[in-house]
Amino acid sequence: MAAAESTARELLSPLPLRLNHTEGVVSRARALAGTVAVDDRPVLVAAAWLHDVGYAPQLVSTGFHPLDGARFLESMGWSEQICGLVAHHSGARFQAGPLGLADELRSYEFTEDAMTDALTVADQTSGPAGERLTLDDRMRNMLRRHGPGSTNARAHALREPYFRSASARVAARGLTEVSGIDYAALIAV
Ligand SMILES: [Fe+2]
Repeated sequence: MAAAESTARELLSPLPLRLNHTEGVVSRARALAGTVAVDDRPVLVAAAWLHDVGYAPQLVSTGFHPLDGARFLESMGWSEQICGLVAHHSGARFQAGPLGLADELRSYEFTEDAMTDALTVADQTSGPAGERLTLDDRMRNMLRRHGPGSTNARAHALREPYFRSASARVAARGLTEVSGIDYAALIAV
C-alpha cells in the first residue's frame, strides 16, 4: 500500500495544501483504524492517501473530484473497494445529483459500513492544511470557504446528518475496540 502514498504525493505535488490535508486525513484514518476489521485497515489508510487525488490538475475531467479520482484509480487498476471508497467519500452521493453526475457516480458502489464511516470521519475532522478539527468546525470552515451558492452548501442539508450519524457510529465502534493495541504497527504501510 506504499503505492497509495507515492501516488498521492506525486499527483498532489502541485497542490501542497491539499497534500497537507491528505496527510492529516491519513493520520486520522490511522487513529480510527481500530473501528474497522483488521484486514480492512491497510485499505482504509490507502483510501485516505488517495481520497483527494481527483483534485490533481492533470486528472480534472468532470471537475467533481471524487468521481475524477475514482476514474483515474480504476484506470490504474486499483481495487473496486478503493475506487468505491474514493468515489463516495464524505457523502459525495449528495453532491452528485445537483452536479448532474448521479448516474456516473452510481457506477461505483456505495455501502454504508465501518469503512465508509471511518474515511468520511477522517476527512471531516481534518482541516484544509491537515490540522485536526472537530466536525462542527470543519463544517463551518467548509461552508465559509466554498460560499453559500456552492454545491457543498446546497448539499449540506443532506450531508450534515450523514456526517453526524457516521461520526456517532465511529465513536460507538471506538468504544468497543480492544485497548492497548498498537494500531500503527498493525497498519504499517
Ligand atoms: Fe479530503
